[in-house]
Amino acid sequence: MDITIATLLLLLLCGFIGAKVNSLVDVLLPSIKHLPEAADEIISEFKPTIGSLPEQVHLSLGDDAYSMVVLWSTAEEQEEENSYVHYGVGEDNFTLTVDAQSEDLSNGNPLGCKGVYRGVMKDLVPGQMHSYRVQTGRHFSRKYSFKCPESEANQSASFLVYGDLGILGGGYTLARLITEAKSQKYSAVIHVGDFAYDFHSNGGRRGDDFMRSLVPVASRLPYMHSVGNHEIPFAFMHYRFRFSSPGTPWPIPLHRMWYSFHMGLVHFISYSTEVYYTYNQMYVSAQYKWLTEELQEANRNRDTRPWVIVFGHRPMYCSNFNNDDCTKNRSQLRMEPHNLERLFHEQGVDLIIQAHEHSYERLYPLFDGVQTDCSYVNPKAAIHIIAGSAGCNEREMLCADVILGKPHHWSAKRSWLPGLNGYARLNVINSTHLNWQQVMSITDQPLDQFYIVQEHHGPRQEVVERRCKQQR
Ligand SMILES: *[C@@H]1O[C@H](CO)[C@@H](O)[C@H](O)[C@H]1NC(C)=O
Ligand SMILES: *[C@@H]1O[C@H](CO)[C@@H](O)[C@H](O)[C@H]1NC(C)=O
Ligand SMILES: *[C@@H]1O[C@H](CO)[C@@H](O)[C@H](O)[C@H]1NC(C)=O
Ligand SMILES: *[C@@H]1O[C@H](CO)[C@@H](O)[C@H](O)[C@H]1NC(C)=O
Repeated sequence: MDITIATLLLLLLCGFIGAKVNSLVDVLLPSIKHLPEAADEIISEFKPTIGSLPEQVHLSLGDDAYSMVVLWSTAEEQEEENSYVHYGVGEDNFTLTVDAQSEDLSNGNPLGCKGVYRGVMKDLVPGQMHSYRVQTGRHFSRKYSFKCPESEANQSASFLVYGDLGILGGGYTLARLITEAKSQKYSAVIHVGDFAYDFHSNGGRRGDDFMRSLVPVASRLPYMHSVGNHEIPFAFMHYRFRFSSPGTPWPIPLHRMWYSFHMGLVHFISYSTEVYYTYNQMYVSAQYKWLTEELQEANRNRDTRPWVIVFGHRPMYCSNFNNDDCTKNRSQLRMEPHNLERLFHEQGVDLIIQAHEHSYERLYPLFDGVQTDCSYVNPKAAIHIIAGSAGCNEREMLCADVILGKPHHWSAKRSWLPGLNGYARLNVINSTHLNWQQVMSITDQPLDQFYIVQEHHGPRQEVVERRCKQQR
């Protein structure tokens, strides 16, 4: 750790200790005030909630490259009629209008916003800026804009990736994400489970505050997601109503909390690890069957979309010291007959992105406890990354879980210090090269970065153990 990081850590700690935890904006301010523009944007989303005034506007990918979903909330219960999205190509163009669907989010949400809305913008022009605003009854939101992602499969694309992001612990990350979202370098955000800590806390107000603070990011970029353990209460209702998944009915049904989307050279798949850990495991086999078919489909299209990247909340491995399932020799996710690791290995998944551990860890290519490579050039097994250091706050404070375990031989890089909160820039460069950059939110400096080079994407059979000289 160099002196700058140590100083920043101290500042961060002071910021948090001096903050009053029950006022979210108060807590966020110390961490975002060094980025005044980001602070202004977040604060402007915390307007008084009244009646059917739209708020918490955010995007999600639609079913094809020419559509985009908008979701929002209102304090009052759903407006049965008269909710719309107005949009068009270019600046201040609202010539197109679509009806929105509305739902009542009252369960587990006595003090939060009750109305949730979803409209689908269609006939978009890939690669072009679009403007939009939403309407509930006689109330309009302010104007927002986004760039419709490119539709060509051969384009390089970049993504912002992280899990375990709360409003209290994630202030620095949130501020950084706003700057990133404005840069127009990214096609989507991928949040690998655990939102807000928790959506339903404080009678649902925590979830509303979190979604308000996300608007400067999620109104500009489709906010893609997978479900985490903090979303379990009230039958995942907040997750299923606040978000929308491509190719899936809305609100997201309990039996469809997994989905896929294509972007550039990547076939992305979001899966639920929670089906393995909730008392009623009735959805484990349904998801496993869907995943098998989806991965077979991905392999048929590998010429156009060579990269297969999956993301789900709980890791299969971790070298942490907290007795979580990933610390065990064989996690639930690696048990037959619905062993996700084996399925992903056989189907040639390139990258498995996980979170849950509140830390960052990069593993060497690994299958069934066997390290197959000493580098990331033509790896013979999938690469696991734990990208859970965005900034959690389970204990209403800093995310400071202590992780003291000796790193396993397959652990290439690990970080847990709360001051080293961060997120990843996932750059899919071309059909053979992918770059992962783990960024520290306080300094904007890379904490870790590496390339995966794969010239032979596709299903795998053999497992060959490699002993590496540079192993820990
Ligand atoms: C406004 O948007 C519509 C729909 O996207 C488009 O057809 C039209 O050309 C746009 N008008 C201007 C002036 O850009
Ligand atoms: C992608 O494909 C399109 C159509 O096949 C082609 O016109 C374009 O040049 C390609 N772009 C790149 C970056 O290869
Ligand atoms: C895990 O595996 C290691 C090495 O195979 C073994 O020594 C250890 O006893 C196992 N632990 C448990 C809890 O099964
Ligand atoms: C892919 O990108 C890498 C890194 O920029 C470059 O070295 C390589 O030549 C590229 N490959 C192709 C097929 O374009």
